Amino acid sequence: MLRVLTLASGGGSNLRALCAAQAHLGYTVVGVVTDREGIGALAFAASEGIPTCTVLPKAHPNRPAWDAALAETCASFSPDLVVLAGFMRIVGPTVVAAFRGRIVNVHPALLPSFPGVDGPAQALRAGVRVSGCTVHVVDEGLDSGPILAQATVPVLPGDTAAALHQRIQTAEHALLPAVVGAVARGDLSLGAAPVWNRWPAPSTGAAASTFYPPVTASPPGAPHPT
Ligand code: GRF
Repeated sequence: MLRVLTLASGGGSNLRALCAAQAHLGYTVVGVVTDREGIGALAFAASEGIPTCTVLPKAHPNRPAWDAALAETCASFSPDLVVLAGFMRIVGPTVVAAFRGRIVNVHPALLPSFPGVDGPAQALRAGVRVSGCTVHVVDEGLDSGPILAQATVPVLPGDTAAALHQRIQTAEHALLPAVVGAVARGDLSLGAAPVWNRWPAPSTGAAASTFYPPVTASPPGAPHPT
């Protein structure tokens, strides 16, 4: 079973989605590491009995020291895959080196457009008519690693950044578990040059989002799509 460690900074809706799908997608969330206290992701993990650890930047003298502590903490969970699910800091070179090719991030925009903070607001300011989310491998840059999968959502008249972000998050909650499930099955190989070994079959259901590749994450209890 693929051991997934999740890093989070906020409400943890992607963590919830990952946990909801884990039984039928063949991975297990073994821990949650945060850079903040008192957040929804920690409350959810506690309610599910998932081990947690918080590595506060202010508890360390500088960024390299925090980076090293974060790497050590992550390693203590012996993860096969590290998933940044709303982790709002750039992980440092020590973490990237420790888990090179085994860290993925979900970003609320269609990379390489609109990296960094406020992806939905950036998309609105640019006037794009389509936005979405991206799951990509993490490297030393800012949302710059190889793209694994994307889902698109429309930008609607009168959208606010919050409304667009909510629509994007609904897509994230399907895309992120589907990508992790694909890694667990061996359909997707990560590493320096990620490759889809099996391109998933198209989803047959009507969807508000379009997924590239057409990954599907069945609801809990449903038979696995493959
Ligand atoms: C997500 O939209 C993700 O793309 C971004 O941060 C948000 C986290 O939301 N990086 P949540 O904590 O998973 O609810």
